[in-house]
Amino acid sequence: MNGPALVLERSEADDRAEFRQAVLTGLARTPRAIPAKFLYDARGSALFDQICELPEYYLTRTETGILRQCVAELAVLAGPGCALVEFGSGSSVKSRLLLEGLRDLSAYVPIDISRQHLDATAARLRRDYPGLNVQPVCADYMALTELPAEVNGAPRLGFFPGSTIGNLEPAEATAFLRRARLLLGPTGALVMGVDLKKDPRRLHDAYNDSAGVTAEFTLNLLRRMNRELEANFDLSGFAHEAFYNAAEGRIEIYFKSLHPQTVTVAGRSFAFAQGERVHTEYSYKYDDAGISALARSGGFSIDRTWTDPARLFAVTYLEAAP
Ligand code: AVI
Repeated sequence: MNGPALVLERSEADDRAEFRQAVLTGLARTPRAIPAKFLYDARGSALFDQICELPEYYLTRTETGILRQCVAELAVLAGPGCALVEFGSGSSVKSRLLLEGLRDLSAYVPIDISRQHLDATAARLRRDYPGLNVQPVCADYMALTELPAEVNGAPRLGFFPGSTIGNLEPAEATAFLRRARLLLGPTGALVMGVDLKKDPRRLHDAYNDSAGVTAEFTLNLLRRMNRELEANFDLSGFAHEAFYNAAEGRIEIYFKSLHPQTVTVAGRSFAFAQGERVHTEYSYKYDDAGISALARSGGFSIDRTWTDPARLFAVTYLEAAP
C-alpha cells in the first residue's frame, strides 16, 4: 500500500553513471551541451521551486490562476470516475487544484523519476485525502509503457503542467505526446500547460531574474559535476546566459566561460575559450497554431484552451484523436 504501484527504478550508481556519460559526451561534442534533466538534483529542484516564486517568472502563478478558473469546466469535460495521471508529479499546488476540483476520481497516478520525491508526495496526499486511491509510479515518463493494473478500465485524464513540454525539442515533444496517447488510451484526454509567445523582453526577464536565482540554477550544474564527477569547475569563471531566439521561438540557456581555462571532469581535460558556451536548456514558446500542430503530431486534437487575460500562458484540454 505504501510503496509505488509500479517501479522502473534505477540505483544511485546507475544515475551517476548516466550523468558521467552524458557530461563526457556533451563536453566532447560541438557545440557543447548537457541535457536539462541533470539540472534537477536536490539543490537544483529547490532552486527551481524558488524560480517559480520570482516576480519575473510569471509562468507558475499564471497557470495556477488559469487552473483555478477552469477546473469546474475541466471536471465536466473529464466526467466522473477518471484516473488522473500526472507526468512528473512536481508542484502539488496544481495537482491539488485538480484533486479537489475533479469529482469522483477513481485514482491518482503520480509519475516521477525520483523515488524520494514520489514517496513524500504520495504520503502527503494519502494523509490529506484519505479516500483517494494513490497509485504512484517511479519511472521516467519518457520511457514508461504501462500504468498500474489498478487503473485498468477507468477513463484516464493526463496532466502535464508547467510548460515542461517547452523543454522538449519538437521531435521529443511529439514523442512524449505519442507515448501519453498510448498510456491514456483511445478515450483518454490530456490537460497540458503551455507558455505562449510574447514580448521578448518579458521572456528575457523571466530567465534573467534580478535576484540571480536562475543563474544560480544553471551554475548549480557545475557544482553537481564538481561533487559527483570529481570536476574542478571554478564557479566564478563561468556565467549563466539566457536569451530569446525569435526565429526558433525558444529561450536558450547556457553556461559561458568568462576567460580561457581548462577544467578536469572525471579525469578528462576540457579546454574552454573565452566566451565558449555549454548549452543546458531550451524553453520553447508556442502560439495557437503551434499548439494545434504539436497536438496533431502526437495523436491528439484540442478540445478547449483557456488563457489568462494577458495571454501569457495557455492550459489546453487535448482529446485522443481517433
Ligand atoms: C521546468 N521548465 C518549464 C522551466 C522553463 O521555464 O522552461 C525550467 C526553467 N529553467 C530556468 N527557468 C525555468
